[in-house]
Amino acid sequence: MKTAAPPKHSKILILDFGSQYTQVIARRIRELQVYSEIVPYNIPLKEIVDLAPNGIILSGGPASVYDKGAPQIDKEIFSSGIPVLGICYGLMQMAHHLGGKVVFTGRREYGAGMLQINNGSQLFDGLGNQLDVWNSHGDEVTALPNGFAVAATTEGCNFAAVEDRQRKLYGLQFHPEVAHTPRGREILQNFVYHICHCAMDWTMGSFIEEACERVRAQVGDAKVVLGLSGGVDSSVTAALLHKAIGDQLTCIFVNNGLLRSREEEVVQRVFGENFHIKLKYVDASDRFLKKLRGIIDPEQKRKLIGNEFIDVFQHATEELLAEDRHRGAAGGGYKFLAQGTLYPDVIESVSIAGNPSQVIKSHHNVGGLPEKMHFELVEPVRQLFKDEVRQVGLQLGLPKEIVYRQPFPGPGLAVRILGEVTEERLSILRAADTIVQSEMEAADWYYKVWQSFAVLLPVQSVGVMGDQRTYENTVALRIVESQDGMTADWVRMPNEILARISNRICNEVRGVNRVVYDISSKPPSTIEWE
Ligand code: XMP
Repeated sequence: MKTAAPPKHSKILILDFGSQYTQVIARRIRELQVYSEIVPYNIPLKEIVDLAPNGIILSGGPASVYDKGAPQIDKEIFSSGIPVLGICYGLMQMAHHLGGKVVFTGRREYGAGMLQINNGSQLFDGLGNQLDVWNSHGDEVTALPNGFAVAATTEGCNFAAVEDRQRKLYGLQFHPEVAHTPRGREILQNFVYHICHCAMDWTMGSFIEEACERVRAQVGDAKVVLGLSGGVDSSVTAALLHKAIGDQLTCIFVNNGLLRSREEEVVQRVFGENFHIKLKYVDASDRFLKKLRGIIDPEQKRKLIGNEFIDVFQHATEELLAEDRHRGAAGGGYKFLAQGTLYPDVIESVSIAGNPSQVIKSHHNVGGLPEKMHFELVEPVRQLFKDEVRQVGLQLGLPKEIVYRQPFPGPGLAVRILGEVTEERLSILRAADTIVQSEMEAADWYYKVWQSFAVLLPVQSVGVMGDQRTYENTVALRIVESQDGMTADWVRMPNEILARISNRICNEVRGVNRVVYDISSKPPSTIEWE
C-alpha cells in the first residue's frame, strides 16, 4: 500500500540509495510544511510521473558508483523536467549517468568544511558567500557533464555544489540535511520553495481533516477495535479515530499485570472520562502472572506475553460482540483492527551492503492479531513520523503526559525484572520506578531524555541499615538519550539527581539496599535489559 498524500498537496519524492540520513531528509522537508515520501532508488520514471512530485531528492548512500551491483537510478528521470537535487551519492549518480567523470577515492570520511559560493545559484539565495558544511567524501566528481556549472567549492573539492539550471538539476557533495550544516535548512528551503515551487500545505491540521475523511471512506459504518496501550502511537490513533468515527470505535485496554504504577488509572481517566471513548478494560493480570511463573529466559517471557495478549484480545472482542448482541445493537462484527503504525515502519527499505539503516530490530506487540482474527487494518497515522504524531496528539487535545511520554515496552516490567517475575518483585520494581519517574519530573529531566527507568536485578548484596546487616536486592538505573531507539547513549546526569534517586530508593523501597547506574551505550548493549 502506497502512502501517497492526496494529489492536491505539493510533494517531494526522496529516492533512497541507502543513506543513514534518508529519513532525516524526509523529516527536514516536512518541517518546511511540504509533504515528502521515501521511495526505493530504482523506482521507474513512469511510477514517479504517476506520483506527480514537484521535485526529487536523491539521497546519499554507502556504495561507490563503480561497485558491482551499485544502486543505479533510472536515468530517464534526469530528462523528465522534474527538478532533481542529488546529495552526495545522489550527485555521483547524476554525474555518472549524464556523461561527467566520477573517480573512486577508496576512502569514506566525513568532516567539516567551508563552502565558497561563486555563481549566484538559486540554491544559495540569501546565504552570502561562505557556509559551514558537513562533507562526506566517498567518490568524487572530477569532470562535469555537459550543461553543468560549478555553484560552490570547498578547499578539498572543486565540485562541492553543481547545477544545470536549464534542466533544473542540482548536486551537493555535502549533506544539507544534517545539523552540522547549520544553514542546510535554508538550502533545502530554496530548492523546495523556489526551484520546485512547493506550497506550504503539509500541516497537521490539514492532515487530521484528511485522515478523518480517509478513515470514514475506508470503514463506512463498520466497527473498529483498537488495542490501546497508553503509549503515544496507540493513544493518538485512538483520539484520531474517535474524531473520525466516534462510537464506531472501541478501544481495548489490557492490564497484563506488568504495567507501571497507576498506568491503568491514567488511561481510563484520559480516554474514558475525558474523551468519552468506548473503552473496554480487561484485567488479565492473573493470567499473565500465572503464565510467567518460573520463567527466566527473556525470549520465552516475550513470547508468552505476546501470545497471551493475542488470546486475551481475541476473547475481549468476542465479549464485545456478545455485549452488542445483548443490547440489540445494530451492525455486524468488528471488521477492522486499528493500529498505530508509523511511517518509519512502512518505508520499503532498500538493501545495500554496508547500509546501517538495515540493522533494524522491530517490536510488533500485536503483530499476530490481523492474521489470526481476519481483521482488515486501519492505520491512520502510517504517513507520519513520531514528531508529527505528537503534534497531531496535541492538536486533538491529548495531555502532554501522554503525548510526550517515554516509550514503554509491550512486555512491560517483565523485561525489567531479570529472573522470575513475581508479585513481590513487581511491587519492588514499581515502587522504584515511581521514584525514578517522579524525581526525573521534579528535576525537569523526564522530557529531556529518551527513557529513564529502574531495572530489578537478580542480585542480592550486603548492606547496613541502622545497626542491622541487610542482604537485599539491587536496582539498576537506566537513563538514555536517543533519536529513535536504534542507538543510544547513557545520560551524564547531574550527580545530585542520581544521589537523590538512589537515596530515596534505598530508604523507601523495602527490599532494596543498593542502586547502580548503567553506563553502557547501545550498541553493544540494548536499552532494555532483556
Ligand atoms: P532495545 O532494548 O531493543 O529497545 O534497545 C529499543 C527501544 O524499544 C523499546 N522496546 C519495545 N517497545 N515493544 C515495544 O513497543 C517491545 O517489545 C519492546 N522492547 C523494547 C525500548 O523500550 C526502547 O525504547
